[in-house]
Amino acid sequence: MSNFPVFEPASPQAEAIRDLFVQVLWISGGIFAIVAGLICVALWKFRAAGDLPEQDFGSHRKEIAWIVAPVIVVLWIAAISAKLVLTFNAVPQAHPPGEQVADLIVTGHQWWWEVEYAGTGIVSANEIHIPVGKRLRVQLSSADVIHSFWVARLARKMDAIPGRENFIWLQADAAGVYQGRCAEFCGTQHAWMNFLVHAHEPEDYEKWLAREKIVPPAPTDSKAIAGRRTFLSLTCSQCHAIAGTGADRSIAPDLTHIASRSELAAGVLVNSPQNLRRWLKDPAAFKPGCKMPDFKLTDQQLDDLVAYLETLK
Ligand code: CUA
Repeated sequence: MSNFPVFEPASPQAEAIRDLFVQVLWISGGIFAIVAGLICVALWKFRAAGDLPEQDFGSHRKEIAWIVAPVIVVLWIAAISAKLVLTFNAVPQAHPPGEQVADLIVTGHQWWWEVEYAGTGIVSANEIHIPVGKRLRVQLSSADVIHSFWVARLARKMDAIPGRENFIWLQADAAGVYQGRCAEFCGTQHAWMNFLVHAHEPEDYEKWLAREKIVPPAPTDSKAIAGRRTFLSLTCSQCHAIAGTGADRSIAPDLTHIASRSELAAGVLVNSPQNLRRWLKDPAAFKPGCKMPDFKLTDQQLDDLVAYLETLK
């Protein structure tokens, strides 16, 4: 993974953004070189003390030239930027209220992303799966404060604002995993509001979709059965949803397929049974300010919960 994902675009939109950036960089670099160069020339030429250059006042031609030239440059940059924004405008045409227009509905929360796959019933968190080569419309909003959704290699940056719907296109040219970030300061754990975009070949995407639609069967192992009971009887089920259990709140990440996700807590930890246990034992140790409190679970409860959650593939 490069440190400069912006320079490694993996979609037509990201490529156009990179090209615009490079063009503006050249223009500003050129202006900087001219201005800095002239300053250096003046410093060198008139370096002797008391050696003043010839003074020149009230030249209309020169004044007009240095007003018109920057205006042309600024208008040019505005025009190429506006063209790009309009080319990739994802705002849908007027649609009846309540009608589904987006392929993905993403909601920012402090500090995780809720991802809903329109028309499929699938809800997940901090992970987005898309088929390669298909342009998907993403509807963005927020459940609390302003966040900003950004997958540098795939799309433009877009704010997720409470009470408002914003739209962007999301598309990947090649299969792979792309890093996503929250790009707007949204509280103490803003830096841990990461997500991953998995782009699959179309047939692999269909397989993922089919798997994701399956409601995980009730556990059969005694530890996992106890864990399921713990999940439903404690506060967990007041915030989290797990399909097939009756727990359906969306205050916190949907856990229906948590065991198949690769990260925990929006990128803080790699998803493993050990890390899941550490996370449940003391969330604030990994993510201070996180909304999930330390429930002072006993070792037994922790073991049971982990055993249950690991069955949710
Ligand atoms: Cu959400 Cu920063």
